[in-house]
This record gives sequence, C-alpha cells and structure tokens, in this order.
Amino acid sequence: MQERHDAPLAPLTTFRLGGPARRLITATTDAEVIAAVREADETGTPLLIIGGGSNLVISDKGFDGTALRIATTGFTLDGTALELAAGENWSDAVARTVEAGLAGVECLAGIPGSAGATPIQNVGAYGQDVAQTITEVVAYDRRTGETVTIPAADCAFAYRHSRFKADPTRYVVLRVRFELEDADGLSAPIRYPETARALGVEAGDRVPAAQARETVLKLRAGKGMVLDPEDHDTWSAGSFFCNPILTTAEHAAFLARVADRLGADVAPPAYPAGEGFMKTSAAWLIDKAGFTKGYGAGPARISTKHTLALTNRGEATTEDLLALAREVRAGVHEAFGVTLVNEPVTVGVSL
Ligand code: EPU
Repeated sequence: MQERHDAPLAPLTTFRLGGPARRLITATTDAEVIAAVREADETGTPLLIIGGGSNLVISDKGFDGTALRIATTGFTLDGTALELAAGENWSDAVARTVEAGLAGVECLAGIPGSAGATPIQNVGAYGQDVAQTITEVVAYDRRTGETVTIPAADCAFAYRHSRFKADPTRYVVLRVRFELEDADGLSAPIRYPETARALGVEAGDRVPAAQARETVLKLRAGKGMVLDPEDHDTWSAGSFFCNPILTTAEHAAFLARVADRLGADVAPPAYPAGEGFMKTSAAWLIDKAGFTKGYGAGPARISTKHTLALTNRGEATTEDLLALAREVRAGVHEAFGVTLVNEPVTVGVSL
C-alpha cells in the first residue's frame, strides 16, 4: 500500500484534469482496498474510488478526502471461466482472452479503464457489453461491511447502467467473473453492422476472434477512441454523453423536430431499446445541432474524429470542459428538444 498527501489526481485520469486529493492511497490487494474503505467509512472521510480514470471528471479544486486507487492484480483463466481483479487493465485482459482462443469480450478491445469498472456502467461497444458474459461480481458492501458475491442476474444490468451505478456509494468492486466461449478461436457472432461491414461478413457471422479484436481496435482508433498519450485528440473519456433513450411518444416528437429543422427525408439513427422505447444517437444530435468534429476554439474541444468525445487539448481545466459540455447540451436541447446526460462520473462538480 502506498500513501501520499496533497496528491495530483489529473495524471490518474484520461482527461488529465482535476485538482489534488487530500490523501491518495494505492491499494494492491483486496485486503488493502477493504482496509482503506473501512477506515474512510469509520472516520466519516469522503472516499473517491479510482480505477483506470477513464470515466472521471474531477473538479479543479480536487477532492477533499481519501482517493483510493485500485491497483490489484489477478487474471485467472480456468477453462472458459475468467476471473479478473478489479485493478487489471481491461484492454490487456481482453487481449489475453483472445490469445487464449476464447470469445465473448473481443469487441470490447481498446476500451480504456480497469476491469472493476466494467460492471458499474455495463461497459459496451461494437455489439458486446459485459452483461453478456459476466457471471458474478465480488464486491465489498460498505453498508454491511461484508464481502459479497453478486450473481449477474442481481446486477440490474441495462444500457450503461447497473445496480452499482444506481447505488454508487454502496459497493466497491473487488473481482469480476466471466464465462467466455470456446469457439475454436472464433469470435462470438458479430452483431454491430459497422463491424460486420469492416470485416466483410454478415451480421451474425463469426470470424477469428483475433481478427474481430483487431478490426474493433482499428474502428476505435479511427474515432479517436484509443488512448494515446501523445495525441490530445484522445484525451477524453470516450463518449461524453449517453445515447438518449426516448419513449415512443418522445421519439415521434423528436422525428417531427428533425423533419422541421433538417427536412422530411432525414432519418436520424434509431435503435430499438425495449418495448415502448427507441434509442437515438448522441453523436448525430451533436453533429446536427452544429457542433461538428473539432468544434471549439478553447483548450477543450470536440474530438476531430467523433462528436461524442470531448477532449482536453492539453491546457484545459475541468471548468473549460464543463463549459463546452453545457454548451453542447444546451444546443442539442434547443435544436431537438432532447436533453443529453453525461456518461462519465463527475466528482465535486456537475453538469
Ligand atoms: N455520428 C455522427 N457524427 C460523428 C460520429 C457519429 O453523426 O462524429 C453518428 C453516425 O450516424 C453514426 C452514429 O452517430 O452512425 C453512431 O456512432 P458510433 O457507431 O460511433 O456509435 P456511438 O453511438 O456514438 C457507441 C458507444 C461507444 C462505442 C460505440 C461502438 C455510447 C454512449 N457510446 O457510440 O462507447 O464505442 O457505440 O459500439 O453508447 C463509450 O461509451 O465511452 C464509448 C466510446
């Protein structure tokens, strides 16, 4: 365990933003994680859990409490059963499952962050989300002081959501267990049309898992969604906003607004999102509201490769980023009557 005082948090986030923490603890075992959480809870000290820092927007003032960086390690494969310690780098773990010839998470390659963060917002991309393969989550329950094993069926997984996100101060994820598939080195069926097109196959086909992984990495890189410390265009939290889910009635009103504004022949992306709901594309809304790729003149700008990624061009503050996010949210609301909701977690600030 390592402990520092008045420690800068910006280097621990992919945005490279945020002020210092009063105290920063780096825990390398589950026991250290639990001890640090217990101590904070017993002394009434505010606690900030930091995994890969890829989904965090921290106030410029920093965090007046204990920041706990989860740096536990553990990658255990037993046949098709995988257990990851919360601190494992997610993208590296995906690469190892593919090398082991297993399918199920290959399309989640290149997602920055730690394994322990994946169940919290049910991380997903290119037709896969972790809810499809997680069997159990081992977590420390701050309410009871016990370590619990929560079966996937009790995790309330939904689009970018789970029971852990719904009740963010209750659980600290320690380990995540997955059941992968041995399909003789082939991927799971390719579901995302863009991925199928790039692979030259039909949706539903399987391809070598390594090829699926590499194709996803290329698609992500083309959208600025693979972190590169040298490239400010990737200093982001991936998607800054969730794709809005609208009721059928809201969706009809939205289509009418689109027709009014852009013409009757314009069809915004629409994906079924369960009985009575439609999901549309935040990136599309942002683009069509006039915030095109590269938008912005200050140190926080929209990525030049994807309108859903807000980026720190190197000199930004959290306030610069939030000002841009608020401008985008207001512009989209003004144009289309849809209110975007931020995907990253905010600490000490809100949108
Ligand atoms: N689009 C634009 N302008 C752009 C980019 C996209 O208009 O600059 C439109 C296009 O019509 C495109 C549509 O938006 O067809 C959707 O874009 P994309 O396929 O890139 O997907 P997304 O909905 O923007 C989601 C996830 C990503 C994930 C990709 C691929 C959310 C909030 N985002 O993005 O996840 O990688 O699908 O599956 O669900 C993340 O959550 O941080 C993330 C990067």
